[in-house]
Amino acid sequence: MAVGVFDSGLGGLTVLDAVARRLPQVPFVYFGDNAHAPYGVRTSDDIFALTCAATERLWDEGCDLVILACNTASAAALKRMQETWVPKDKRVLGVFVPLIEALTERQWGDNSPPREVAVKHVALFATPATVASRAFQRELAFRAIGVDVEAQPCGGVVDAIEQGDEILAEALVRSHVEALKRRMPRPEAAILGCTHYPLMQQAFQDALGPEVKVYSQANLVAESLADYLTRRPEFLGQGTETKFLTTGDPASVSNKATLFLRHRIVFEAA
Ligand code: DGL
Repeated sequence: MAVGVFDSGLGGLTVLDAVARRLPQVPFVYFGDNAHAPYGVRTSDDIFALTCAATERLWDEGCDLVILACNTASAAALKRMQETWVPKDKRVLGVFVPLIEALTERQWGDNSPPREVAVKHVALFATPATVASRAFQRELAFRAIGVDVEAQPCGGVVDAIEQGDEILAEALVRSHVEALKRRMPRPEAAILGCTHYPLMQQAFQDALGPEVKVYSQANLVAESLADYLTRRPEFLGQGTETKFLTTGDPASVSNKATLFLRHRIVFEAA
């Protein structure tokens, strides 16, 4: 009864950590496409092809349900995958909707018309591909009116994290927050719209200031997955083992993952 978790690299481990804590009885198979990260500077055709290949590999591991723990893939490829590619006996879900439901104070499946919500000025930090897709604004517009979103494409941050260069990642976070604040001086909420960014959450919070509520996805996705599996237990696949697969160098990816999550993680070649 395994579930697949996909990311372009290390970022999805922030989601994996939360879902594994929320559903300790479920084995998870993680796939990091480290050889092709970052996705955030790729075209949507490229992101679609890479995400489909990784998803198929997770199906081979007995995971009928795959979570795209990657906003870039969720924004640039998920809709096309669901509409044209995913067979009826499999499911692929993204990480955008749980976050937007939290921001707009909605329960799962509440499809009522968009309404006014408490928060009015939202800063979105994401990869260039996610920002260019405008998927966040589109999903938000289905649920809320009168929310001003200022999006900052955070070039370089994922690369620095994948390379394990925390100092560079922090410096880039500070400069991206400053750039956003020049356009939106007082955001009330900030969305970390990339699963790599919770690894830099403190740097975002410090640069934004304590009055800004920072939303990150891991726990919201975990709740939403638990809820989904209660409603659709048939999508718990045949897999039985938790494992970590990478297209990159397993030894070096294991070391970086262990460093970031502060517990030992061993990757094997995908
Ligand atoms: N962590 C991913 C995301 O949530 C991908 C970042 C990248 O590969 O550029 O967007």
